[in-house]
Amino acid sequence: MSGENQLHGCAITGVGSYVPERVLTNADLETIVDTTDEWITTRTGIKQRRMAADNEFTSTMAAAASRKALAQAELDPAELDLIIVATITPDMPFPATACLVQQELGAAKAAAFDLEAACSGFLYALEIAQAFITAGVHQNILIIGAEKLSSIIDWEDRNTCVLFGDGAGAAVLQRRDGARGVLATRLGSDGTKANILAMPGGGCCQPATVDSVNERIHFLKMEGKEVYKNAVTAMTAAAKEVLERSGLGIEDIKCIIPHQANMRIISAIGDRLGATEDQVFVNLQKYGNTSAASVAVALDEALQQGVVQRGDKILIIAFGAGLTWGATVLEW
Ligand code: UT7
Repeated sequence: MSGENQLHGCAITGVGSYVPERVLTNADLETIVDTTDEWITTRTGIKQRRMAADNEFTSTMAAAASRKALAQAELDPAELDLIIVATITPDMPFPATACLVQQELGAAKAAAFDLEAACSGFLYALEIAQAFITAGVHQNILIIGAEKLSSIIDWEDRNTCVLFGDGAGAAVLQRRDGARGVLATRLGSDGTKANILAMPGGGCCQPATVDSVNERIHFLKMEGKEVYKNAVTAMTAAAKEVLERSGLGIEDIKCIIPHQANMRIISAIGDRLGATEDQVFVNLQKYGNTSAASVAVALDEALQQGVVQRGDKILIIAFGAGLTWGATVLEW
């Protein structure tokens, strides 16, 4: 829980994002699996998604987004104290993708680690970074949500392959005494439902074997309906809690940035919070679900479009495998 007894102020001083050039449309997917543009559009709201090139990885997309965030913050990478990469698609099981990003950026002074909270990862990273800064441990932190989900998608499974895309979003957090920044955060998890969204293969339980590859367990598996129901309930509850703790009503929020998984989930949450349509930022029609990158890319686009001005309040809400979820109210 953040927002109480802060020693130092923490501000987000730079935000950046990167999506790969290659576009995969719903029409393209009609040629790959038994699906239709009409089904995907009405059930999810997604029209297209971006696919990383063969020589693009989570680390390279993360570095591209980070360079933009660092430029906006006017911060030399050499000044970074810490780099956190939130991802479920690291370049490899180890070393951490954050170390590869550190090397790409030339951030020699920084400590670097990966964080795994699936689609909620960027909010988990934000909470950790702001806690380090307000406690006086670090001054300059780079957080990144980045995914090459195309590498773990089963292109024979129409239930999942139409939903996801690749991309990265980054933010620079810095000590700025007097800044308000994060007003309240709520993070949550429920490991009793770990099995409804998972990639079973490749860890120590079921390491890679010829059989495991043939059994297709190195791909993302999801019970869509169960995830859907849990997403609406958990994101709504977390959002209500952070609004209450920051002493704000939904009408005080300029921009709501929900995890971009499904338009129907976003609308259900908006309705339950009593939000108007123009308060809710949506870009899933262009990118699909990019997991840890989702809210970070959306935040960057909302800022670029001038939706948010200094002093405005932003509500970010996320949900993903674990299960994990989170909500944060920011003063921009
Ligand atoms: O990022 C983490 C959070 N993830 C999410 O929030 C995703 C949450 N879940 C969802 O967004 C939705 O559950 C889905 C979009 C995945 C599925 O929507 P749904 O309304 O729950 O559909 P369903 O799974 O109940 O499937 C309905 C039908 C099934 O056919 P039958 O059994 O009714 O004949 C599916 O086989 O739609 C069929 N179907 C498809 N048809 C055409 C499933 N995928 C497709 C497809 N194209 N791509």
